Amino acid sequence: MIDEILVATTNQHKLREIRQILKGARVQGLGIRVKEDGKTFEANAIKKAKAIKPLPGQLAIADDSGLMVDCLGGSPGVRSARFAEPPTPKNLCGKLLKVMSSECGALPAGRQVRSAKFVCVIAIAYPSGKIRTVKGVCHGRITREMRGKHGFGYDPVFVPRRYKKTFAEMSPAMKNRLSHRGRALRKLKALLK
Ligand code: IMP
Repeated sequence: MIDEILVATTNQHKLREIRQILKGARVQGLGIRVKEDGKTFEANAIKKAKAIKPLPGQLAIADDSGLMVDCLGGSPGVRSARFAEPPTPKNLCGKLLKVMSSECGALPAGRQVRSAKFVCVIAIAYPSGKIRTVKGVCHGRITREMRGKHGFGYDPVFVPRRYKKTFAEMSPAMKNRLSHRGRALRKLKALLK
């Protein structure tokens, strides 16, 4: 029986989303920082989760996530948080739009390949030392300008497939229904049942 979920993150936005999606569970954020030097989301998520030693009745989880843009060969990927300094939405999205306008082909406006996906891997560390991972993906495209005020990171430039609004224009509840983190956390919830 799990009484408490410990989350290894310094990102208050992620923690808020995790609390909203795991509503009902006792969720405690631990501001743990590790060097994210893994080559995959899995490796970084496992490294962060292993930094917490859960007691019986507790679980430790850590999310490693990022944006993969097809025409940039999957960048910024695991480097999403470090793509621009300081990593404000304005800096991250501004740099992404600039890099895409120079590197994503000279097709006429409206015909550029702007497909992208958000990926979230959550590592779960059990008191026994066992580790599992769950993954959530949200496919979509990158807009040509920033839109919306909600969320964080690249939310103002990401439109999920079959929708018109960016994540930053959607309510938090709507983003959670569609997002990579929402998908991964619902898999985690199913495991806990
Ligand atoms: P990390 O998992 O701490 O390495 O950080 C992932 C980075 O990817 C964040 O700092 C954001 O820049 C970006 N990112 C991850 N998930 C989201 C999201 O839901 N919306 C917008 N940006 C995100």
